[in-house]
Amino acid sequence: MSGEYRTGLGWDVHRIVTGRPLLLGGVAIECDFGLDGHSDADILSHAVTDAILGAAALGDIGMHFPDTDARWKGADSLRLLAHAVSLVREAGYEIVNIDTTVILERPKLKDYRLRIRESLSATMKLAVDCVSVKFKTAERVGPVGEGRSAEAQAIALLAKR
Ligand code: C5P
Ligand code: MG
Repeated sequence: MSGEYRTGLGWDVHRIVTGRPLLLGGVAIECDFGLDGHSDADILSHAVTDAILGAAALGDIGMHFPDTDARWKGADSLRLLAHAVSLVREAGYEIVNIDTTVILERPKLKDYRLRIRESLSATMKLAVDCVSVKFKTAERVGPVGEGRSAEAQAIALLAKR
Protein backbone atom coordinates (compact mmCIF):
# COMPACT_ATOMS: atom_id res chain seq x y z
CA MET A 1 0.00 0.00 0.00
CA SER A 2 1.18 3.51 -0.84
CA GLY A 3 0.02 4.94 2.50
CA GLU A 4 -2.56 7.14 0.82
CA TYR A 5 -5.92 7.06 2.62
CA ARG A 6 -9.22 8.52 1.46
CA THR A 7 -12.49 9.04 3.36
CA GLY A 8 -15.96 9.37 1.88
CA LEU A 9 -19.36 10.33 3.22
CA GLY A 10 -22.77 9.00 2.19
CA TRP A 11 -26.30 9.95 3.20
CA ASP A 12 -29.80 8.98 2.07
CA VAL A 13 -33.41 9.59 3.00
CA HIS A 14 -36.64 7.96 1.84
CA ARG A 15 -40.25 8.61 2.73
CA ILE A 16 -42.12 6.11 4.94
CA VAL A 17 -45.19 4.56 3.26
CA THR A 18 -47.43 1.56 3.79
CA GLY A 19 -47.47 -1.39 1.39
CA ARG A 20 -43.73 -1.40 0.66
CA PRO A 21 -40.94 -3.48 2.23
CA LEU A 22 -38.39 -2.04 4.64
CA LEU A 23 -34.95 -3.19 3.48
CA LEU A 24 -31.76 -2.20 5.30
CA GLY A 25 -28.47 -3.42 3.87
CA GLY A 26 -30.45 -6.02 1.91
CA VAL A 27 -32.14 -7.42 5.04
CA ALA A 28 -35.95 -7.36 5.19
CA ILE A 29 -37.14 -5.83 8.47
CA GLU A 30 -40.42 -7.09 9.92
CA CYS A 31 -42.53 -3.96 9.97
CA ASP A 32 -45.99 -2.50 9.13
CA PHE A 33 -44.49 0.11 6.78
CA GLY A 34 -41.71 0.46 4.22
CA LEU A 35 -39.85 3.08 2.23
CA ASP A 36 -40.99 4.73 -0.99
CA GLY A 37 -38.82 5.11 -4.10
CA HIS A 38 -38.10 3.99 -7.67
CA SER A 39 -35.59 1.47 -6.37
CA ASP A 40 -35.99 -0.91 -3.44
CA ALA A 41 -35.36 2.21 -1.28
CA ASP A 42 -32.62 0.54 0.74
CA ILE A 43 -31.29 3.73 2.38
CA LEU A 44 -28.40 1.99 4.10
CA SER A 45 -27.05 0.36 0.93
CA HIS A 46 -27.44 3.70 -0.90
CA ALA A 47 -25.53 5.61 1.80
CA VAL A 48 -22.71 3.03 1.80
CA THR A 49 -22.54 3.13 -2.02
CA ASP A 50 -22.19 6.93 -1.97
CA ALA A 51 -19.57 6.78 0.81
CA ILE A 52 -17.24 4.47 -1.13
CA LEU A 53 -17.80 6.27 -4.46
CA GLY A 54 -17.15 9.57 -2.65
CA ALA A 55 -13.92 8.37 -1.06
CA ALA A 56 -12.59 7.47 -4.53
CA ALA A 57 -14.03 10.71 -6.02
CA LEU A 58 -16.00 8.57 -8.49
CA GLY A 59 -19.19 10.63 -8.40
CA ASP A 60 -22.41 9.42 -6.81
CA ILE A 61 -25.03 6.68 -7.03
CA GLY A 62 -27.28 8.60 -9.44
CA MET A 63 -24.39 9.14 -11.85
CA HIS A 64 -23.56 5.42 -12.09
CA PHE A 65 -27.10 4.04 -11.77
CA PRO A 66 -29.56 6.55 -13.30
CA ASP A 67 -33.16 5.34 -12.96
CA THR A 68 -33.46 5.94 -16.76
CA ASP A 69 -30.87 3.18 -17.49
CA ALA A 70 -32.63 -0.12 -18.31
CA ARG A 71 -29.56 -2.06 -17.13
CA TRP A 72 -30.28 -1.12 -13.50
CA LYS A 73 -34.08 -1.03 -13.71
CA GLY A 74 -35.52 -2.87 -10.71
CA ALA A 75 -32.01 -3.90 -9.62
CA ASP A 76 -31.68 -4.54 -5.94
CA SER A 77 -29.46 -2.07 -4.13
CA LEU A 78 -26.93 -4.70 -3.08
CA ARG A 79 -26.18 -5.27 -6.79
CA LEU A 80 -25.53 -1.54 -7.19
CA LEU A 81 -23.30 -1.61 -4.11
CA ALA A 82 -21.37 -4.62 -5.44
CA HIS A 83 -20.82 -2.78 -8.74
CA ALA A 84 -19.63 0.36 -6.90
CA VAL A 85 -17.20 -1.81 -4.90
CA SER A 86 -15.75 -3.17 -8.15
CA LEU A 87 -15.38 0.37 -9.58
CA VAL A 88 -13.54 1.49 -6.43
CA ARG A 89 -11.23 -1.56 -6.54
CA GLU A 90 -10.58 -1.03 -10.28
CA ALA A 91 -9.55 2.56 -9.40
CA GLY A 92 -6.83 1.06 -7.18
CA TYR A 93 -8.38 1.23 -3.71
CA GLU A 94 -9.00 -1.31 -0.96
CA ILE A 95 -11.88 -0.64 1.42
CA VAL A 96 -10.49 -0.49 4.98
CA ASN A 97 -13.77 -0.13 6.86
CA ILE A 98 -17.23 1.42 6.80
CA ASP A 99 -19.24 2.86 9.67
CA THR A 100 -22.95 3.62 9.35
CA THR A 101 -25.96 4.95 11.24
CA VAL A 102 -29.62 4.30 10.41
CA ILE A 103 -31.99 6.88 11.88
CA LEU A 104 -35.49 5.48 12.25
CA GLU A 105 -37.98 6.04 15.05
CA ARG A 106 -39.29 2.46 15.09
CA PRO A 107 -39.09 -0.52 15.08
CA LYS A 108 -36.11 -1.41 17.26
CA LEU A 109 -33.41 -2.59 14.90
CA LYS A 110 -30.63 -3.78 17.17
CA ASP A 111 -31.57 -7.47 16.83
CA TYR A 112 -30.94 -7.13 13.06
CA ARG A 113 -27.46 -5.66 13.51
CA LEU A 114 -25.42 -8.80 12.86
CA ARG A 115 -27.54 -9.90 9.89
CA ILE A 116 -27.20 -6.47 8.27
CA ARG A 117 -23.43 -6.39 8.90
CA GLU A 118 -23.10 -9.89 7.41
CA SER A 119 -25.18 -8.94 4.37
CA LEU A 120 -23.10 -5.81 3.65
CA SER A 121 -19.80 -7.58 4.35
CA ALA A 122 -20.68 -10.45 1.97
CA THR A 123 -21.71 -7.98 -0.75
CA MET A 124 -18.56 -5.89 -0.31
CA LYS A 125 -16.23 -8.89 0.19
CA LEU A 126 -15.07 -7.26 3.40
CA ALA A 127 -14.59 -8.86 6.84
CA VAL A 128 -17.62 -8.46 9.13
CA ASP A 129 -15.50 -6.66 11.74
CA CYS A 130 -14.80 -3.95 9.11
CA VAL A 131 -18.54 -3.22 8.78
CA SER A 132 -20.24 -1.26 11.55
CA VAL A 133 -24.00 -0.62 11.72
CA LYS A 134 -25.56 1.65 14.35
CA PHE A 135 -29.13 2.78 14.99
CA LYS A 136 -30.64 5.96 16.40
CA THR A 137 -34.09 7.39 16.88
CA ALA A 138 -34.65 11.10 16.16
CA GLU A 139 -36.23 11.59 19.60
CA ARG A 140 -39.70 12.18 18.04
CA VAL A 141 -38.44 15.46 16.48
CA GLY A 142 -38.58 16.41 12.76
CA PRO A 143 -39.69 14.23 9.81
CA VAL A 144 -37.77 11.17 11.00
CA GLY A 145 -38.93 11.59 14.59
CA GLU A 146 -42.54 12.01 13.44
CA GLY A 147 -42.32 8.74 11.48
CA ARG A 148 -42.51 10.33 8.02
CA SER A 149 -39.05 9.34 6.76
CA ALA A 150 -35.94 7.32 7.51
CA GLU A 151 -32.30 8.28 6.99
CA ALA A 152 -28.95 6.54 6.76
CA GLN A 153 -25.43 7.90 7.03
CA ALA A 154 -22.19 6.14 6.11
CA ILE A 155 -18.50 6.86 6.15
CA ALA A 156 -15.85 4.80 4.38
CA LEU A 157 -12.08 4.63 4.59
CA LEU A 158 -10.15 3.52 1.50
CA ALA A 159 -6.43 2.78 1.15
CA LYS A 160 -4.60 3.17 -2.16
CA ARG A 161 -2.88 -0.05 -3.22
O1 C5P B 1 -32.03 7.14 19.65
P1 C5P B 1 -31.59 6.57 20.95
O2 C5P B 1 -30.33 7.21 21.45
O3 C5P B 1 -32.68 6.56 21.97
O4 C5P B 1 -31.25 5.04 20.69
C1 C5P B 1 -30.77 4.24 21.75
C2 C5P B 1 -30.36 2.87 21.24
O5 C5P B 1 -31.49 2.17 20.76
C3 C5P B 1 -29.40 2.93 20.07
O6 C5P B 1 -28.06 3.02 20.50
C4 C5P B 1 -29.69 1.62 19.34
O7 C5P B 1 -28.91 0.58 19.88
C5 C5P B 1 -31.14 1.34 19.65
N1 C5P B 1 -32.05 1.63 18.53
C6 C5P B 1 -32.58 0.58 17.81
N2 C5P B 1 -33.48 0.80 16.80
C7 C5P B 1 -33.84 2.05 16.47
C8 C5P B 1 -33.28 3.15 17.16
C9 C5P B 1 -32.40 2.90 18.20
O8 C5P B 1 -32.27 -0.59 18.07
N3 C5P B 1 -34.75 2.22 15.48
MG1 MG C 1 -32.01 5.99 -1.85
